[in-house]
Amino acid sequence: MSDQIAFIGAGNMAGALIGGLLADGIPPARLTATDCSAEKCRALSAATGIRTLQDNREAVADADIVVLAVKPQVLHEVVTEIAESIREHQPLVISIAAGARCDSLQAWLGGPTALVRTMPNTPAVIQSGATVLYATPKVSDSQREQAESLMRAVGLTQWIEDEALMDAVTALSGSGPAYLFLVMEAMESAGRELGLTAETARLLTLQTAFGAARMALESTDPPETLRVRVTSPGGTTERAINTLEDGGIRDLFTQALKAAHARSVELSADLGAA
Ligand SMILES: NC(=O)c1ccc[n+]([C@@H]2O[C@H](COP(=O)([O-])OP(=O)(O)OC[C@H]3O[C@@H](n4cnc5c(N)ncnc54)[C@H](OP(=O)(O)O)[C@@H]3O)[C@@H](O)[C@H]2O)c1
Repeated sequence: MSDQIAFIGAGNMAGALIGGLLADGIPPARLTATDCSAEKCRALSAATGIRTLQDNREAVADADIVVLAVKPQVLHEVVTEIAESIREHQPLVISIAAGARCDSLQAWLGGPTALVRTMPNTPAVIQSGATVLYATPKVSDSQREQAESLMRAVGLTQWIEDEALMDAVTALSGSGPAYLFLVMEAMESAGRELGLTAETARLLTLQTAFGAARMALESTDPPETLRVRVTSPGGTTERAINTLEDGGIRDLFTQALKAAHARSVELSADLGAA
């Protein structure tokens, strides 16, 4: 990639992407980020060497790729502000805003543009994210590659060909880190109840979660096989797993993801109507 990339909004996610791209060897001279706060701009330039601006239109003017990285609540206003410049310069637009559907973005941009909608998740800040991408028809093969390589700077990438699945993605990987943090909280607290110190309970929980996730990622076997392999008949793990199954853990997760999915649909509709 030798394109100029402009980030509109220099918050957590833009910071993660900028960090990932610089770590991948992208020269700082190819990156620009905008933010309302002059202080944030100065701090980001000082920390990364990239150009920062407070003027979104100026950032778009010489960009090949524009990354929309503001909160969904201000997205309509920001997209409207840069729409004319986008129409004039025709960059690839990549949105990372949760819930913003392509039809809303295209309407705010004033017509069809090369637009990729993505849904990253929080572990992107440590380059361990999972990002799903959806391309609108005007996106060329080379622009798909550009979008994928940009998002790969913060972790795994997967394409979907049906935008409606973004709500399922939001329910699974978008909100998913919080579910796993909750499981960790519950295990840690149970460990304390069984007499472990707070520090030991936390460390054992976190390393166990990390080790299990890494093992599952590196194994060719599905998690089910890994679970069965460590669950000896009549043993301690079996007793715990039976307790979780009897408590309806699978059904609870299905209900939770369906609730998140429904909320994602609602939020997208609200945002589109804004
Ligand atoms: N964080 C996540 O885990 C996550 C996951 C998936 C998707 N996303 C999406 O990523 C996007 C960014 O999230 P984030 O967590 O990085 O939010 P954030 O930290 O609040 O970053 C947004 C940045 O945009 C700036 N901003 C606000 N209005 C602006 C304007 N008119 N022009 C230029 N910059 C402006 C904000 O400045 P001020 O702070 O001064 O207002 C802030 O620095 C959101 O749309 C979110 O849905 C985030």
